[in-house]
Amino acid sequence: MTLDRFSNDEYDEYITRFHLADGEDVDQRRKSKTSHKTKKSDNRIIATLADEVSGLEGGFKISYKPARFEEGFLLSSLQPFYDQTLISDVLMRVKGGKEANVYLCQADPATGLDLLAAKVYRPRSMRNLRNDALYREGRELAVSASGVNRRKDDRMQRALKKKSAFGVQIAHSSWILHEYGALDQLYRLGAAVPKPYATGENAIILGYVGEAGRAAPTLHEVTLETRELQPLFQEVMRNIELMVKSRMIHGDLSAYNILYWQGKITVIDFPQVANAVNNRSAYFILQRDIQRVCEYFARQGLTRDPVELTDKLWWQHVGLDPVRQPPEEDLL
Ligand SMILES: Nc1ncnc2c1ncn2[C@@H]1O[C@H](COP(=O)(O)OP(=O)(O)OP(=O)(O)O)[C@@H](O)[C@H]1O
Ligand SMILES: [Mg+2]
Repeated sequence: MTLDRFSNDEYDEYITRFHLADGEDVDQRRKSKTSHKTKKSDNRIIATLADEVSGLEGGFKISYKPARFEEGFLLSSLQPFYDQTLISDVLMRVKGGKEANVYLCQADPATGLDLLAAKVYRPRSMRNLRNDALYREGRELAVSASGVNRRKDDRMQRALKKKSAFGVQIAHSSWILHEYGALDQLYRLGAAVPKPYATGENAIILGYVGEAGRAAPTLHEVTLETRELQPLFQEVMRNIELMVKSRMIHGDLSAYNILYWQGKITVIDFPQVANAVNNRSAYFILQRDIQRVCEYFARQGLTRDPVELTDKLWWQHVGLDPVRQPPEEDLL
């Protein structure tokens, strides 16, 4: 079946998909003589959203009983995946994080899969916004690496800088696209990450790690057997190296963002991936990731030197004189 992957090719598609105004400042748009048209289409969008939320029109009814506050954004975020016959039900909430909730979904029979995970980003108003400047530096907008025409891309980058409403929406969508793009690339490279299936305005659909009723625990929740320590540490380092080779640094790596299931690890949670070459804090971010991994393994009984490991990877794959100082405090 054809899944609604982010095909990365067209700016216009991006604009349509994420319901963005086409690069205009919102203020300018408000003043324009077409404002009554905007209002009409807003009403239509609200009506459609209401239908989606009620689930009556689209027939999307779910077994999981969401809390009142999450019902609206959950159903409207996942309805497109139901329409694409990718998922047929939401079975339970796996976990509520700071930025997103993860749900266990029943995969639609058309996919040939049994279960899928849906990572649903909280609406901007309900998110605990991390300080993204540290990670965003030197990173292209998620779409720009992929053939979006230069002039349009510049317009998007400018909107981001200006923090217009358009820019804020791009920033929100860009976190999601960035996570999806990183997962897509890493999965193809053979990294131990969930397979990404589809992305939407507020959510991504991923391979689920675990079984019905019991999602994989994070490494943090697991005590490893001695014989597992060395191979699992090596597997984590293999994944870090795979990323660095592709100029990526996870940026929030720790035992909280590594799942453990049937003796294998899966690295998750990629929206803040930083650019290993263009970000001035890249060395610092890499070292912090490796240090957190080493801390976990040290508690389990395997001691490794994070600075030595960082240096080795850095010189092998980045090779630039690193800035070893931590960045300004307000970036942390
Ligand atoms: N593919 C998956 N399969 C099973 N469980 C998953 C999957 N992806 C995420 N989870 C669970 O959902 C939790 C939250 O996911 P993730 O870390 O991606 O989101 P987050 O909102 O950034 O979380 P946090 O703010 O807690 O770091 C994870 O800790 C994990 O328990
Ligand atoms: Mg997480």
